Amino acid sequence: MPAAYLQCVEESCRRRYPLDSKEHICAACRNLLDVSYDFPAADPSALRQIWAQRKTGSAVVDQSGVWRFRELLPFVPQGGNVVSLLEGRTPLIEVHRTGDWVGGVQLAVKHQGNNPTGSFKDLGMTACITQAARLGSRITACASTGNTSASMAAYAARAGMKAVVFVPFGKIATAKMAQALEFGSMVIEIGDNFDQAFHLLRSLADELGLYLVNSLNPFRLEGQKTIACEILEQRDWRVPEFIVVPGGNLGNVSAIGKGLLEMKQIGLIDKFPKLVVIQAAGASPFYNMLASGASEIVPVAQPRTEATAIRIGDPVNWKKALRAIRATQGLCEAVTDDQIFEAKAALAKDGVGCEPASAATIAGLRKLVQAGAIRAGADVVAILTGHQLKDPESGLRRRSEAELNRQRMHVEADLNKLRAALEDVLLQSA
Ligand code: F0G
Repeated sequence: MPAAYLQCVEESCRRRYPLDSKEHICAACRNLLDVSYDFPAADPSALRQIWAQRKTGSAVVDQSGVWRFRELLPFVPQGGNVVSLLEGRTPLIEVHRTGDWVGGVQLAVKHQGNNPTGSFKDLGMTACITQAARLGSRITACASTGNTSASMAAYAARAGMKAVVFVPFGKIATAKMAQALEFGSMVIEIGDNFDQAFHLLRSLADELGLYLVNSLNPFRLEGQKTIACEILEQRDWRVPEFIVVPGGNLGNVSAIGKGLLEMKQIGLIDKFPKLVVIQAAGASPFYNMLASGASEIVPVAQPRTEATAIRIGDPVNWKKALRAIRATQGLCEAVTDDQIFEAKAALAKDGVGCEPASAATIAGLRKLVQAGAIRAGADVVAILTGHQLKDPESGLRRRSEAELNRQRMHVEADLNKLRAALEDVLLQSA
């Protein structure tokens, strides 16, 4: 089994810590840690074959779309127990109409909404709660814009652990709150935004012995990096030109970047797709930093966007995200809420739904094609991070009564009235 350890992300530090350390940041320089491995030389085609064969296996570790790639997650020894809800194995769907709408690209969406709790967080959570169990943790905690809390609550329940979630007061979608409650976690509504809730939780987590599962926990990213493996495998290992993700706390883009770096190191791919991060314009500190050429992030004190999942002003993973963008010569863009909801409507014409934060990818892609930063005809994968039913209210709120009334009507339960109403509608659309 390859050596596995925690390591500071800062190039000038790179201090190492044992895998079972409860630290999430470097004691020497306060930067984040990676889970790092000394991968032995491997035969990439043998590895691809093993991963493909496991798809028909019946063991949990073979059915899970995360643990199927376990050679890339050797922090769990071979045969070690994992906490899984059979996450991953999500579809990669071609969306031709949306591809035309963004300006004529070959577009496929990797739909992470098809996960056990309806978002990509489940991929990270299986890894992170597995590590929590290995460390003997009893109480897990996170601050969340909603999806992390839903996912943590489910995986903690699965592992028989207690869960405490901190969410901004009145600022998360109802469905996500309902999930956290149904899975039995304690929900603390605190502060006006994610950053405040996260800051307060971080100040108390150690003192109270809470195992923090936010994406500053590097084990989260280990699970999420397998999104990159699945995409490549579903494309017969043809590397797309671009992979587009929404950015909030910037854990996902960091994870996918790490996955790509490791796959290249092992020889599973010979080049990188460019990683593209899209932020909401009212919550875009990473975009602001890159656009202004600054070398440090300046937090946005009052993040604003209707895409509540990515309403984050002080992303903890920005250095890891910068590494991913630099390594892949990636891009970053910011989009308005109007653009996000237009993109969501465009996807709906392909029969694909998602939550608003996910549609930011499509809106950003369109903007980048219009600006000439991505050429027409490019081969692009956009990651849809959450399920349509996570936040149905926001879409409905955006549509006027008049618009909704053109699509729905109340008809008296009378055959003649029904016939007349339907004839009316059918004539209108003929
Ligand atoms: N999309 C959705 C649906 C999300 O829930 C999140 C983050 C993101 C995108 C952004 O991902 O933070 O890795 O850059 N949601 C977190 C939460 C913050 O608490 O559920 P990121």
